[in-house]
Amino acid sequence: MHLVRTVSELHATLQPWRAAREAIALVPTMGNLHAGHLCLMETARAVGECVVVSVFVNPLQFGPGEDFEKYPRTLAADRVLLEKTGVNVLFAPTVQDLYPGGYPPATAVSVHGPLAEILCAPFRPGHFDGVATVVNILFNLVTPAVAVFGEKDYQQLAIIRQMVADFGSSVRVVGVPTLREPDGLAMSSRNQYLSAEERRRAPRLIETLNWAGEQLNAGRRDFAVLAEEACVRLTGAGFKPQYLDIRARDLAPPTTGTRMFVVLAAAYLGRTRLIDNLSIGPVLP
Ligand code: PAJ
Repeated sequence: MHLVRTVSELHATLQPWRAAREAIALVPTMGNLHAGHLCLMETARAVGECVVVSVFVNPLQFGPGEDFEKYPRTLAADRVLLEKTGVNVLFAPTVQDLYPGGYPPATAVSVHGPLAEILCAPFRPGHFDGVATVVNILFNLVTPAVAVFGEKDYQQLAIIRQMVADFGSSVRVVGVPTLREPDGLAMSSRNQYLSAEERRRAPRLIETLNWAGEQLNAGRRDFAVLAEEACVRLTGAGFKPQYLDIRARDLAPPTTGTRMFVVLAAAYLGRTRLIDNLSIGPVLP
């Protein structure tokens, strides 16, 4: 595996694959890799001849007071994990490499429309613009045929798909289901912020989403009331929910005719913000 730090090294390293017209598969990450990330690498391996993993804690997607400074940076350990996973190139640029015109960049991607107004968006102003901007830069630098993202960040995946469509990009976006701990908690780099007591309680998040899913499967269609009841359950379990929302799979508001749902939530457990989602359906009419 090549560890590449600069853009010129990246181009030199990718040259043989480009010359052979072999498909590059990109997995963008912020590092501190866990088994959930490694599922994305395996998918990338299956769809591309050259797997590039980027590790970059992107300052542009963190708001003031968020965890940019304390976000775990573990490149040495990430490198060891990736060596074992059949990744060809680990691209770990600096802020200067990724934003060569200076930081913050003068040109950025701005996400509008319904996807930019729902779920996490109002709680994290500018977050998805920061994500879309860095992913667009990575797409331009790496020129992947395929890019792999996790369904764990369901809204992020939807926004990347929308950006690719809106920009006429030829990158094929592939989503990978969420990998969970044995007790159901979605794997996340932020789980390590949890105290032992919070960690014991954390699976209540997915349990609550499961409960809402069962209600949908049982025929309930009073979406707002159901979401509110689920939110109350989360609060009862010691969470401070930001939202719990029931949506159609494309994140449109559900209707009584919707058969494919996704239930999504963001909630604080202590000082740690957790997000999760669960796809439901097709439900019976
Ligand atoms: P990061 O949080 O490091 O996640 C990198 C990728 O791993 C994302 O596509 C995310 O959805 C996926 N992922 C995280 N936990 C997962 C799990 N338990 N199962 C499956 N996939 C999982 O998401 C980002 O970084 C950044 O916003 C990024 C896209 C890299 C832009 O900076």
